[in-house]
Amino acid sequence: GETRHYHFHIRLNNITRLCHTKPLITVNGEYPGPAIIAREGDRVVINVTNHVKDNVTIHWHGIRQIRSAWADGPAYVTQCPIQTGQSYIYNFTITGQRGTLWWHAHISWLRATLYGPIIIHPKKQATYPFTKPHQESPILFGEWWNANTENVINEAMQNGGGPNVSDAYTINGLPGPFYNCSTKDTFKLKVIPGKTYLLRIINAALNDELFFAIANHTVTVVEIDALYVKPFQTKAVLISPGQTTNVLLKAKSIPPPLNARFLMAARPYVTGSGTFDNSTTAGILEYAQVSNSSSPALTFKPTLPALNDTSFATKFSQKLRSLATPQFPAAVPQSVDKHFFFTVGLGLNPCPKGQKCQGPNGTKFAASMNNISFVLPSTALLQAHYFGKSKGVYKLNFPDNPPFSFNYTGTPPNNTRTLNDTRLKVVPFNATIQVVLQDTSLVGPESHPLHLHGYDFFVVGQGTGNYNPRSDPKHFNLVDPPQRNTVGVPSGGWVAIRFRADNPGVWFMHCHLEVHTSWGLKMAWVVLDGNAPNHSLPPPPSDLPAC
Ligand code: C2O
Repeated sequence: GETRHYHFHIRLNNITRLCHTKPLITVNGEYPGPAIIAREGDRVVINVTNHVKDNVTIHWHGIRQIRSAWADGPAYVTQCPIQTGQSYIYNFTITGQRGTLWWHAHISWLRATLYGPIIIHPKKQATYPFTKPHQESPILFGEWWNANTENVINEAMQNGGGPNVSDAYTINGLPGPFYNCSTKDTFKLKVIPGKTYLLRIINAALNDELFFAIANHTVTVVEIDALYVKPFQTKAVLISPGQTTNVLLKAKSIPPPLNARFLMAARPYVTGSGTFDNSTTAGILEYAQVSNSSSPALTFKPTLPALNDTSFATKFSQKLRSLATPQFPAAVPQSVDKHFFFTVGLGLNPCPKGQKCQGPNGTKFAASMNNISFVLPSTALLQAHYFGKSKGVYKLNFPDNPPFSFNYTGTPPNNTRTLNDTRLKVVPFNATIQVVLQDTSLVGPESHPLHLHGYDFFVVGQGTGNYNPRSDPKHFNLVDPPQRNTVGVPSGGWVAIRFRADNPGVWFMHCHLEVHTSWGLKMAWVVLDGNAPNHSLPPPPSDLPAC
């Protein structure tokens, strides 16, 4: 492979959307940020220089980072933040992945404005397992707040309630025609009749799962999270924060009327009971000859699933299957060395003395896995682990099971308080791991897009209600389950994931709804080094920031 060099300068730039101008933290002045473009097998070297007051780190979401955990990026997990005036070089090789991933800031809520695509082309001589597209375009969903997003989350953390919802969703940074002052700020895609286009869909929104559809067109899903799937056609796509989905769009071969414009739109899929941004972002699909047309536009609007269409969501995720061909096999672990059962959900903690809390009945919102609200340390976990200095930084007693007998349909235990702590789970190198992730209804059922760093896991099973360890495994798909880095734990249900712990390091696992991460729905794994010389983590780079 080649080596691709990038320099990311983190700078403030004034950006205007919805008639509001605010200084935005950007990469190289761009919003959304620049694309990283590489081929499978390439080394990517990104020098990140921080010119703003806030501490920054960048995470390469979905990149496996095989034996390069130092380049993963979550603040206080694999590195201390890059401080004002400092630089850090992220250096990693793309192995066994091709398709679309993305990068984003991984500290506080800075990813609201610091994000961009990672485009991974197949190796030079490699053939696509689907029609080679004529052209391609990223479709990057984001969320825009008129207010400063750091203030939004800091206020919520102080008053214990939910954060203010966003003012708009965006496609490639543009809200589109359904919002104030945004007719000009609309993403446009021009296509030629009969040609096939690859849309690289990325959900970079902070707190919302999204449905996406294009008027009068179906799309074919071909890849998720930079791994091929068995192609299937669909009228709409469900995409959770953190996920990426590549679809083929075939432009109609008989050109539509000259003045036709087809809206592509996204709006949320809602499972929780809290407030949410109930607005719709849209872009325009136009056929190439349209620019010469002088007649008034004829606009077609897509039909999107209803806000709470869980049946669509379930069917969509059940259609996802690994390609599982001899060329692209699915290495599903057939046996399990370590079994885990983690609950994921919200909790309500008492309001700290002297504070007024805006959660239900004056409580403070929290979120947890196995009832532990994860607390980030003030130094980086990976350094503490590597240098054997875990004392006072973290403990290795993250529980294998929840501390209460969990029953989704029954009465919640009378104590829904979470325990705030920094607890990690250690696993040996190369062990096969199964984790059942069970949504809890302690505050209310809600779907949680769970993301694991450093790995792609197989989603071997999913269901509604309580996971049944006797009957449910009988229905697991161990042949062609989808493989990905972020999976939606269904609202009031469970998913089972499997992976082989073949990548040493400290790996974050968390809900990719940013407010849930802020509330503590996160934990970390320690994967030990293996015995063979190429099975251990190399020492940290010399420019790794200090805390
Ligand atoms: Cu996309 Cu831990 O993040």
